[in-house]
Amino acid sequence: MNKNIAIIRGDGIGPEITEQALKVLDRIASKYGHTFVYTDVDMGGCAIDKWGEPLPPEMLDKCLTADSVLLGAVGGPKWNDVPAAMRPEKGLLKLRSGMGVYSNNRPAKIWPQLAGASPLKKSIVDKGIDFIIVRELIGGIYFGEHKTEGAEGSAVATDILKYSEEEIERIGRIGFETARKRKKRLCSVEKSNVLDSSRLWKKVMHRLAGEYGDIELSDMLVDNCAMQIVKDPSQFDVIVTENMFGDILSDEASMITGSIGMIPSSSLGATSRGLYEPIHGSAPDIAGTDTANPIGTILSAAMMLRYSFDLPKEADAVENAVGAFLDAGYRTADIMSEGMKRVGCSECGRLILEYID
Ligand code: IPM
Ligand code: MG
Repeated sequence: MNKNIAIIRGDGIGPEITEQALKVLDRIASKYGHTFVYTDVDMGGCAIDKWGEPLPPEMLDKCLTADSVLLGAVGGPKWNDVPAAMRPEKGLLKLRSGMGVYSNNRPAKIWPQLAGASPLKKSIVDKGIDFIIVRELIGGIYFGEHKTEGAEGSAVATDILKYSEEEIERIGRIGFETARKRKKRLCSVEKSNVLDSSRLWKKVMHRLAGEYGDIELSDMLVDNCAMQIVKDPSQFDVIVTENMFGDILSDEASMITGSIGMIPSSSLGATSRGLYEPIHGSAPDIAGTDTANPIGTILSAAMMLRYSFDLPKEADAVENAVGAFLDAGYRTADIMSEGMKRVGCSECGRLILEYID
């Protein structure tokens, strides 16, 4: 199989973690007889420094002509004071919406080897943590009108949260379809006791439920959901929610599995071209120290193999190698515990290659 993959190394730890994922993709290519060609794309702070904007149109074009996109992380304190439209994160939002990847899939699954790294009580962890957050990615408050008016001292800032039935329906369908491949339980998360957009969300989900009779649909208010995730995460199979709620809940969900550094994500739209990125940020405080955990990015590459390239055997090989790395007692700093062997970012990548072999 020949594939062209756009690679966005980004800022902070982005380049280090992406490097490890590329090593893994190369090893998979040589082991299974595929050719992966990489096209470098500048996005985020590094693109602001080089080109004066976080995602120049030529860079978006490179992503739109690639078979898929792998992203490390973007952002950092260096660009905190640039105008809103020029922030590194704006590049990421433009990329997501330019690619039309409305459906963001964020698994929260505990690796048995890391059960001790979860901040939850053992009795809760032992009930099992294995759910997926399906997050709407290119609508809602992230993409509504943003403005700040008035003089300093009496300024008023506005962010609009808007959803159409069409936008809700297409992500709702992904939620139902995802649940269908799992335990057939879908929890729709919103704030319908306060927000109009949430009342519409709930209505559309219930209308769809009529088409998915085999799926058990439940509703949950987002504040309650935040509580239930730490109280009893075993109750969840698939959560479907809007953009900002999904952003917040997925950070919470990742932490109960041990570390945000372990969690990959896939974002898909109408085609097989996907955007694959770990859910963590660019961790500027540890950038360049070779201590970051590259596993979230490596597992994102595995998701690309599975969902965009339809290569399940190859994806399994990567995921099993990560499991073998953990089984052997290796840990990066974020998941380190007593008696384990601490390794850096590049050593983690190298060991995972060994386990692929
Ligand atoms: C994420 C991140 C992004 C988001 C930021 C960097 C814009 O937090 O992917 O979860 O809010 O979507
Ligand atoms: Mg986030």
